[in-house]
Amino acid sequence: MSKGPGVQKMFDAIAPNYDLMNRVMTMGQDQRWRRFVVGKAGDPGQGWVLDLATGTGDIASLMGRSYQGAHVIGADFSLNMLQEAKKRFQEQTIAWQACDANYLPYKDSSFESVTFGYLLRNVDDSLRVLKEVYRVLKPGGRVICLDTTPPEKNIFYPFVRFYFRFGIPFLGRLIASDEAAYAYLTGSTMDFHNAEELAGIFTEAGFVKVDYKKFMMGTIGVHWGQKS
Ligand SMILES: C[S@@+](CC[C@H](N)C(=O)[O-])C[C@H]1O[C@@H](n2cnc3c(N)ncnc32)[C@H](O)[C@@H]1O
Repeated sequence: MSKGPGVQKMFDAIAPNYDLMNRVMTMGQDQRWRRFVVGKAGDPGQGWVLDLATGTGDIASLMGRSYQGAHVIGADFSLNMLQEAKKRFQEQTIAWQACDANYLPYKDSSFESVTFGYLLRNVDDSLRVLKEVYRVLKPGGRVICLDTTPPEKNIFYPFVRFYFRFGIPFLGRLIASDEAAYAYLTGSTMDFHNAEELAGIFTEAGFVKVDYKKFMMGTIGVHWGQKS
């Protein structure tokens, strides 16, 4: 069965508490990683950029504020998350659009860059989504992906495992009144590709100059690549 409908329902439900939970859960680090994503995307001039799975719009907003000439689209299939994004960034001219990452409603070679935060862990087939992203990028266009990564077995592992298993679901219950959604976050992270495997999928989708950097004791990864 496809993950899509369950994921959509879950994000619709947690949308009002999503930002607070993010800040607390990441100990205030999450915006730093988004700024790194935006820096890697680079200045698109007057071109169009797409922030897919935009959620409550942080990456889309940072893109717009960092690159004043850019035309920014923030797209997501959760209407409640998009509603929060619209409310938060009313003063910015961002086009908020509803769409499923598996079937992008954009023409081939439309965008200078496509970013996404915490999308791939939530889809059935990362390769399929990456091929869609490849299709809508202009030649030379950049993809930048921020996501959680299964923790490495290093000295931090026992602490990270404890935090994943108990800390995050506890915070989910306390802040978002939804322990299950945040237990899903940790479960889907443990089941997700490791950073090296994910880089291989970017290459399989056709991207070149693929690389990645890890943050937060190796639990967060930013991958990037370019359409040839
Ligand atoms: C964890 S949130 C991340 C939001 C935002 N990118 C951020 O940095 O905070 C994941 C988002 O991905 C969206 N999403 C998951 N699967 C999707 C799909 N197939 N198509 C479009 N959006 C999707 C969810 O609705 C949710 O808003």
